[in-house]
Amino acid sequence: MARSLKILFATSEARPLVKTGGLADVSGALPAALREIGVDCRLLLPGYHPVLAGVKNLETALNLTNLPGFGPVRLLQGEMPDSGVPVYVVDYPFHFQRPGGPYQDVNGADYPDNAWRFALLSRVAALLTCPLSPLMDWRPDLLHCHDWQTGLAPAYLHFVGCGTPTVMTIHNLAYQGIFPPELVSQLGLPLESFAVEGVEYYGNLSFLKAGVYYADWISTVSPTYAMEIQHAPLGMGMQGLLASRTNTLSGILNGIDTADWNPPADLHLPCEYSARSMGGKKHCKRSLQEDLNLEDNPQAPLFGMISRLTHQKGVDWVLQVADGIVDQGGQLVFLGQGEATVEQGVRDLAGRHPGKVAAVVGYDEGLSHRIEAGSDLFLMPSRFEPCGLNQMYSQRYGTVPIVHGVGGLKDTVEDEVTGFVFGEPSAHGLWTAVERALAAFADKPHWRRMMLAGMTQDFSWEVSAKEYAALYRKLVG
Ligand code: ADP
Ligand code: GLC
Repeated sequence: MARSLKILFATSEARPLVKTGGLADVSGALPAALREIGVDCRLLLPGYHPVLAGVKNLETALNLTNLPGFGPVRLLQGEMPDSGVPVYVVDYPFHFQRPGGPYQDVNGADYPDNAWRFALLSRVAALLTCPLSPLMDWRPDLLHCHDWQTGLAPAYLHFVGCGTPTVMTIHNLAYQGIFPPELVSQLGLPLESFAVEGVEYYGNLSFLKAGVYYADWISTVSPTYAMEIQHAPLGMGMQGLLASRTNTLSGILNGIDTADWNPPADLHLPCEYSARSMGGKKHCKRSLQEDLNLEDNPQAPLFGMISRLTHQKGVDWVLQVADGIVDQGGQLVFLGQGEATVEQGVRDLAGRHPGKVAAVVGYDEGLSHRIEAGSDLFLMPSRFEPCGLNQMYSQRYGTVPIVHGVGGLKDTVEDEVTGFVFGEPSAHGLWTAVERALAAFADKPHWRRMMLAGMTQDFSWEVSAKEYAALYRKLVG
């Protein structure tokens, strides 16, 4: 039997330990799916408090005493709580143990030392990977980095002359890890790296650019987004570099955790249901209406939205069409948090339409499942969307998504078959899709066919895991 591939999966968040968005869902599920198909994939995570508290059988693996710019760092190892995936943890309380989230303090401000925090994560990833300094018996054949937080790792590997292959996955090009140029040398990068052909990005240091420039392969989380980022505007300033790497750039669609998002066995729901027995979905809708003080009306088309409340997600377009939805007899439920003005916008809307619109500002995983189950339709009019997960959760829950035809939304929703896809990037574009959806909703046999078409899609991780494994094999040779 072939020796199993060893992959170090370096990431700044992973479910169920720490999550701000879809990256955590991916990091929680993909390594487990890779292990299922025989790839020895292990995680590397920062030692935030919930990570130290949640990882099982945690013990010291190594003491790292000579990392330039840092005091002694402990590397711990253990297992992920649900999946048992092996995980290495960078234990450095000064940088990682603090109140607040992984990137921001309790008031939502970025930590001022984020460059140092994630340079440390990248340094450790590079150290564990480099065959020139074997630190442990287990040494990866390939380092897989995710987003700007691990972007310096391919650069560090390059400058110490380690040939181990690297993959840089872009989950969202809008977050580039931009820091002042004086950090280049402080973070241990040679000055020559501060160039257009290097880590420089419009006069600053960009962690993501470093990863994109020095990694052997760039991947992103849907085939359409892989094309979109090679051009303006979605290339967000890196389109030239990305287009020049078109032969070493690919899109692999995310999957979803079908055990976690599973209507026949979802412990968050008041009632289970499945494609063969749909009765429970009506109960989920009624219970959601009751919990959120919406009118108890089984006929009203109920629209759900669960999202980071940022410009990317097109919430402003939803706010512009919401009065129209209510006029047509519809109801709306929002769950999200993010930019203060957007949060206020959804609160104001709910205030204007008591009994018809509910807005929950905050983060609530259980409620997110109940909204997926209790809604008839799901709104995801993102201006851009590298992949997006909720449109897939929605289909699995028989909740028909309305999406803007970009990125992964385009790759996972088929217009008039499993959902409604609009092209014009505006509130008007969204409204045309809402009108089509309301007409379809009124035709019950047709609606049921759409629900079932979504519920029978296969969005499991198995397919994507096989694509990643094939890519790893190609690069490892
Ligand atoms: P992104 O990573 O850009 O935020 P994704 O669609 O890939 O978008 O993933 C978002 C993930 O975060 C989904 O699992 C979604 O259900 C979850 N999520 C977003 N906002 C909330 C919230 N307020 N409460 C609970 N879950 C949320
Ligand atoms: C990012 C993207 C989202 C994607 C997620 C996981 O946060 O915004 O589209 O689904 O990463 O890859």
